[in-house]
Amino acid sequence: MYKVVTKRFLNDAKTICLFEIEAPLIARHAQAGQFVVFRLDEKGERVPVSVAGYDREKGTVTVMVQAAGRTTKMLHTVEQGDVISDIVGPLGKATEMEGLKKVCVVGGGVGCAIAYPIAKEMHAKGIDVTFIAGFRSADIVILKDELKAASDKLIIATDDGSYGEKGFTTVFLKNEIEANIKENKPQFDRVIAIGPDIMMKFLADVTRPYGISTIISLDPIMVDGTGMCGCCRVIVGGETKFACVDGPDFDAHQVDFDSLIKRAAFYKDEQDEAAKHICRITGGKESEHEPHQGSHARAGSRDPRHQFRRGGSGL
Ligand SMILES: Cc1cc2nc3c(=O)[nH]c(=O)nc-3n(C[C@H](O)[C@H](O)[C@H](O)COP(=O)(O)OP(=O)(O)OC[C@H]3O[C@@H](n4cnc5c(N)ncnc54)[C@H](O)[C@@H]3O)c2cc1C
Ligand code: FES
Repeated sequence: MYKVVTKRFLNDAKTICLFEIEAPLIARHAQAGQFVVFRLDEKGERVPVSVAGYDREKGTVTVMVQAAGRTTKMLHTVEQGDVISDIVGPLGKATEMEGLKKVCVVGGGVGCAIAYPIAKEMHAKGIDVTFIAGFRSADIVILKDELKAASDKLIIATDDGSYGEKGFTTVFLKNEIEANIKENKPQFDRVIAIGPDIMMKFLADVTRPYGISTIISLDPIMVDGTGMCGCCRVIVGGETKFACVDGPDFDAHQVDFDSLIKRAAFYKDEQDEAAKHICRITGGKESEHEPHQGSHARAGSRDPRHQFRRGGSGL
């Protein structure tokens, strides 16, 4: 059992929530760019989330989670002092930072939460960090102060202009690259982008003509997170890779975005179907049998209010 020691919502809309969780073994080894997989209870689905921070002395890891669907909405009902069933990790490869001098980190929505620890670590290492954070609107903006502290230059933009600059991250990235050229400043030796697939695809198109190395963190559907199930396969440089063990970071100019986006859409249809599905075994009643893996497990009806007990005493 893993105790939640801190819980706080990160924006006015309460769409993204921070959880600091006691997990000393993970905290000891975690690095920026890696992820953990949690389960709320012994029958729950496995949910991969990035390590947003860690405190090796306190023995805690921090995750920042957007309420995207059933399990993440249930997670948002977990309170400080409650426990969750398990967390495994750290998984995946850490973000490479060796030899970098000047980097532009681009985050889109909850991608800013994933990009934040990377920017923070690079900034602490003395790398010049420009952070471009994009959100749809003011009410979902997160980590204003933290991103400022983790970067040399911060641009926050919203699609509707309700906070910061108005426009998409692609425009601001291009402006920054062009400004480096015009003002004879050193160019970024890497762009790191984390956000919706479509945003990362267009950011890769921005950097390609300039020959700027571009790394993206992929978040395809993952089940085991250890390279066993093949669920998270992506095509990179014409080869099949597993995002959980070969990534999640990949060279954006090598990623086959069309197949990535198509595969994500395929699972979305399955999830919508699963949400409508009434289990033939229980007839749609509270799940009394072992839930199945994958999307079917999401169809099981579980009341989030009965899932957690305070204090680490078990579920
Ligand atoms: C390596 C990695 C790191 C991630 N880091 C974060 C993070 O730091 N913060 C955060 O809010 N989210 C993160 N995600 C996404 C998060 O895993 C999904 O939002 C979550 O699984 C949704 O589950 P759900 O049951 O609440 O929603 P569902 O309704 O089941 O799904 C909502 C959407 O979430 C995605 N999703 C669902 N199941 C999975 C799965 N098993 N693996 C990956 N994506 C899935 C799909 O796009 C789906 O359409 C990460 C995903 C990966 C693979
Ligand atoms: S999640 Fe199963 S192989 Fe990557």
